[in-house]
Amino acid sequence: MSNNNSSLSHEKIETNNFLMIVLILVVLLAGGMVEIVPLFFQKSTTEPLQGVKPYTALQLAGRDVYTREGCYNCHSQMIRPFRAETLRYGHYSVAGESVYDHPFQWGSKRTGPDLARVGSKYSDEWHRIHLTNPRDVVPESNMPAYPWLGQTMVDETVMASHMTALRTVGVPYTDEQIAKAAEEVKGKTELEATIAYLQVLGLALK
Ligand code: HEC
Repeated sequence: MSNNNSSLSHEKIETNNFLMIVLILVVLLAGGMVEIVPLFFQKSTTEPLQGVKPYTALQLAGRDVYTREGCYNCHSQMIRPFRAETLRYGHYSVAGESVYDHPFQWGSKRTGPDLARVGSKYSDEWHRIHLTNPRDVVPESNMPAYPWLGQTMVDETVMASHMTALRTVGVPYTDEQIAKAAEEVKGKTELEATIAYLQVLGLALK
């Protein structure tokens, strides 16, 4: 009101663009810190769910194919806590399931179905046919075919340094796992790796 002459009267703030912007930013920053920062320290968001294990070297190689090929452009890995979702996909996703995912693949774009719990839903053979040409198992599918995955070998030389890097951000790989990584993926195709990855998704909470 006009009779308030203190230096931060409403009128002063609301008629001064710059001051208004600065104060809005201050409020947003404070609110954001209060909401977001505790999540980094809360047990329920940083503790792995019991049964969640770091990806094996082969699964990790498959996860790299998944991100390289942009599967996340059509598939989310985040089941929301709504009845329609849990009826279709199973238990909703919880934070502790993806503590070892760097970066996580939650997403929200669903041209295809959510894949958070696709592990063990189909056989390896189904995935092999589906990834090579989706129409062979789902005639109406508009998912692209990835025929080259079966013809490309996993690059075993990068796995150890990849896992070492993940260890620095908190994935508890042992020296032994890292030492054996190259051997584990040697001679495997990217198709085998992708399937190994898909088959483990969501199992910890099933
Ligand atoms: C252009 C969008 C698109 C892209 C990109 C895509 N998909 Fe799909 N995906 C679909 C659609 C649509 C379906 C449903 C029809 C079908 O099963 O083929 C599907 C189905 C699937 C299914 C079966 C899910 C279920 O529960 O039945 C899997 C597994 C899958 N995709 C994996 C992948 C992987 C791995 C990649 C990357 C290599 C990928 N998709 C890339 C659109 C896509």
